[in-house]
Amino acid sequence: MKIDLCGIQLAGPVLNGSGTFDAIAARRAFGDALLERFPFHAFVSKTITLAPREGNPPPRLWETPAGLINSIGLPNKGLEGFFAHDLPELAELPVPLIVSVMGFSRDELGTLVQRAGERDEVALIELNVSCPNVETGLVMGADPAETARAVEHVRPLTDRPLIVKLTPNATDPAAVASAAEQAGADAVSLINTLKGMALDPRTRQPWLGGTTGGVSGPAVRAIALEQVGSVAAAVGIPVIGMGGIASGRHASDFMSAGAACVAIGTENFRDPAAGLRIAAELGERVGV
Ligand SMILES: Cc1cc2nc3c(=O)[nH]c(=O)nc-3n(C[C@H](O)[C@H](O)[C@H](O)COP(=O)(O)O)c2cc1C
Repeated sequence: MKIDLCGIQLAGPVLNGSGTFDAIAARRAFGDALLERFPFHAFVSKTITLAPREGNPPPRLWETPAGLINSIGLPNKGLEGFFAHDLPELAELPVPLIVSVMGFSRDELGTLVQRAGERDEVALIELNVSCPNVETGLVMGADPAETARAVEHVRPLTDRPLIVKLTPNATDPAAVASAAEQAGADAVSLINTLKGMALDPRTRQPWLGGTTGGVSGPAVRAIALEQVGSVAAAVGIPVIGMGGIASGRHASDFMSAGAACVAIGTENFRDPAAGLRIAAELGERVGV
């Protein structure tokens, strides 16, 4: 099932959700077997910011009956650290590389997009305007006009295709998607995590070091499917659908709702080879 994603040729439609599969650690654990049977048809990096970040204080994860709440808080080496340490290793992956970036201002986002787009190793750029753990991310992606201003600002700075990752914590994600499309986005991806909270049963205080976190996994699948359907009906650009996908049946549901590609997130923590299994199950379902 070959896919043309914004002019980039993929051998199939299965991606990873940003921040849910550490390809560098997986290569260390599985060696070159990872490259021979790589679980995704394109690889999305975890979100990088301009300056290095420590992330949120622990604990960072809480398991819900059907998923996770995370408050990771975007720990990363920053743009220069990413170029120096991660990019050379990610460039060895056998699939196109999508770099996810997040800026705390439009200028910062512009610098990230411009610098990432200068690198031959980078096929596409994903704008994370939807991370609910960091205040500005919520503001930018929750409002159509703010999203449009961000995309208009960065669009002239690169010729790489731009994917805007939408937050489900918006009043009308389809309106945000349309605004992104009109401002020059080449694709949209959704959903990022939904805002959630867990209490420590002993202290009755918030469990997560970041107080609140993002809910993902099977618990969010029905919400994600509805949002993917309404966004796909509102835009003409490709939609990358995700949120609780754990089987080929789920992936095919998202594609029936209008997604051109799907991404696997939380399921990767349960089964690092989930991408391979889901691609095979999807192939059986659609008969390829
Ligand atoms: C532990 C964890 C870390 C994540 N990190 C990022 C990130 O760095 N950037 C981002 O855009 N989304 C991040 N996400 C969101 C996922 O990419 C995905 O949008 C979301 O989890 C929904 O898919 P899922 O239900 O299949 O996990 C993260 C999710 C989890 C669970």
